Amino acid sequence: MLKKLLLAALLAVPTYAIEVEGLIPIAGYQSRQDNLITCQDGSQIKVEFLTPDMPRIQMSYKKRLEPNPSWAIAKTDWAPTAVTTSEDTSKIQIASANLKVIVHKNPLLIEIQDKNGRTLSKDARPLLGDPNHTQKVFDPSAGFMTVVTKELGLDEHFYALGEKAHKLDRRRGHFRMFNSDTPKYSEGTDPIYQSIPFYISLEDNRAHGLFYDNSYRSHFDFGNSGQEYTGYGVEGGQIDYYFIDGPTIKDVVRKYTELTGRIYLPPKWALGHQASRWSYYPDRMVEKIADTYQSHDLPLDVMTLDIDYMQKYRVFTWDLKRFADPDGLSKRLKAKGLHVVNIVDPGVKYQPNQPSKDEEQPELKDQSKSYYVYNQGTQNDYFVKRKDGKQMVTTVWPGETVFVDFTKEAARKWWGDLHRAYLDHGTGGIWNDMNEPADFTEKGDTGANQRDSYFDDLGRNTPHAKNRNVFALLMCKATYEGLLRLRPNDRPYVITRAAYAGIQRYSTMWTGDAASSWEALAVSVPMFCNLGLSGETFIGSDVGGFMGRGDGEMLTRAYQISFLVPFCRNHKAQDEYDQEPWRFGSYYEGIIRKYLKLRYRLLPYIYAGLDEARTTGTPFIRPLVLEYQDDSNTYAMDDQFLAGRDLLCSPVVKPNLEKKRVYLPRGNWYDFYTGQLQSKQHQTVDAPLETVPLYARGGSVIPLGPEKNTVDALPNAPLELRVYPNAAQKAEGTLYEDDGKTQQYLHGQFARRKVTFASRTLTIEKTGYALPERNLNVRFYNTKNQSATVDGKAVPVKWTPNYIEVQFREGPQAHVVKLL
Ligand code: GLC
Repeated sequence: MLKKLLLAALLAVPTYAIEVEGLIPIAGYQSRQDNLITCQDGSQIKVEFLTPDMPRIQMSYKKRLEPNPSWAIAKTDWAPTAVTTSEDTSKIQIASANLKVIVHKNPLLIEIQDKNGRTLSKDARPLLGDPNHTQKVFDPSAGFMTVVTKELGLDEHFYALGEKAHKLDRRRGHFRMFNSDTPKYSEGTDPIYQSIPFYISLEDNRAHGLFYDNSYRSHFDFGNSGQEYTGYGVEGGQIDYYFIDGPTIKDVVRKYTELTGRIYLPPKWALGHQASRWSYYPDRMVEKIADTYQSHDLPLDVMTLDIDYMQKYRVFTWDLKRFADPDGLSKRLKAKGLHVVNIVDPGVKYQPNQPSKDEEQPELKDQSKSYYVYNQGTQNDYFVKRKDGKQMVTTVWPGETVFVDFTKEAARKWWGDLHRAYLDHGTGGIWNDMNEPADFTEKGDTGANQRDSYFDDLGRNTPHAKNRNVFALLMCKATYEGLLRLRPNDRPYVITRAAYAGIQRYSTMWTGDAASSWEALAVSVPMFCNLGLSGETFIGSDVGGFMGRGDGEMLTRAYQISFLVPFCRNHKAQDEYDQEPWRFGSYYEGIIRKYLKLRYRLLPYIYAGLDEARTTGTPFIRPLVLEYQDDSNTYAMDDQFLAGRDLLCSPVVKPNLEKKRVYLPRGNWYDFYTGQLQSKQHQTVDAPLETVPLYARGGSVIPLGPEKNTVDALPNAPLELRVYPNAAQKAEGTLYEDDGKTQQYLHGQFARRKVTFASRTLTIEKTGYALPERNLNVRFYNTKNQSATVDGKAVPVKWTPNYIEVQFREGPQAHVVKLL
């Protein structure tokens, strides 16, 4: 009997896939006023075109539509779009020059067609509601599930959706959006830390995106519970989505990031290798680790301070014994070319009933009797409260803890300004962690303890259910804006664990507490790819994994992915085995060193990739489908990725392999190491532990800097341009340079130069930006010419079997290299 009951209880656990049976559809059309449509049951629909390619559709279920301000949206000042509206007995059509939104009247279905009448998306059922709470919702008092269904194409593929421990194509999967602390998650754990309710659909070489901007817990079902529809269900608020037309995936990402914002450039050193551990302490240990990296000739730019630098986990304080002289530490590290990043959690130690003292530099004073952050936050009413009006006290690292209500502008400003406690002591970046927000009392039942808390939310006093998913976004906004106020000409550098759509405007991210396992390593590849398609380009994971026992082979293979990934940080949990690059012996260390050195050589290319993401939204780490969406071989490609447009990496993500099956899409590709042209699209290649298969695209020009151990070293060393001609003997690339530190790049202080190769002539554009004094070494692959001129003058040519090279002094003027 007991067994039976237990089984029944297990079966009753909701799958969270969207079941539409039993849900009640909105009634048909009743009336219309311009673009606002009212249904017989009071439901409303509003169609607005932000651009000719991007209609916004808002829908309420059996009530009037309300204004719906959003924290995710970056741009609201769109130029007006010309729209025509027509109506007949069966439908209303609202059309821009490019798209038609057709609202069928009865049943009430929304269809979107291109201008030629091809259906791009159509509701499978009218908007559905669950007023009887038959589906489990997080907070019934906040709302109930409202469900949008769209017809599912037989060969429709789905991408983006932010951070999901899942394969590349979301088809047949179901996912929840509810920021959750999920240590040691594995493939299939869902949800994890971030919520980006935006996905891209691809069918018949035609892509569009749907961004469902609602921060309540939501559910996505891509044909998991029924083969005919995709479902989106949300547990409160109203439906508010943006249809973003392609036709290419790149177009969709560009438009999505125009709407929700693009990345900023971090200080260039943040692209360096970062060392981290929970926790390196005291300060002597931090320096010892830094020295060991350097004496082992391992490139490094950052030492991270995890939670043990604080006074018993009190944020915005320094432990007076372990880190008695933070200024001295950061100065000594800076002298070695290294930067400090401090972790900051959102939990403030609950320390009530103590007199408040105003002190200079309280972060360096004993806070055990009276804690300035708690006092100030309480005096100004900045902390989240429960329904009964009392501060919500949870448990996180400091023990009893309160959280800041980041929906309050004044609280955000206060929090941002508190970062003085780090910047004044030389800290270069801030790592925002535990900002789901994690709560140790919940033991896996995410949000349970916080359900009855309320947020100011622009004076509307809304529940946790609405604010949880934007908590981290607003914490990062507070941090980013604070850093900028404190050092207006420096580039903020913020890292986050949790997020909502739009996070890329404020923060870089890493994928949290991944396991040290081959499975976690394998899933990191599609995770990075889909994060990129979701607008987040500065991404990465704990290299080697955070929890569990790794080994030299796994760590080496992890570096063979992360050496190309913008955020490259080795990090490990407190009670786990060490995994710095030297910990498994000189053999593995040697290979890791080789790939770290290659990363530093590729910095000019990676940095240009960040500039591309900043200006177009195109991510640096990309799935092959982003560049080859007409090639079905790429649709489910989980074990290869592109770094920028021009490097293809096919990492080994399983143990004991010496070979890898590689797919090279159309065009010609060069082995990156030997420069040899590849002849096959599908091939099995040697991939011993010493080597990750890496290819350069024919048609590209890839810039490489010198080998070095810190990002800012050797500014005058030669820049190498590798020219890989395509079959038509053409190639092109971009050089991007700026000061790497300040905000001046936003005021035109940069050099962005096109480099083109055609008719055996390489042309480098001129620039008005002051470049470093240096030589250019240009290597032409697969080219047999024996002599060359630079700017009209004959130069010596170095000849090798796979390339020829010419060298010359670079200047700001245009350069022309002719092969004769
Ligand atoms: C969380 C973070 C981890 C960090 C630890 C201690 O688990 O995800 O990176 O080391 O907290 O701060």
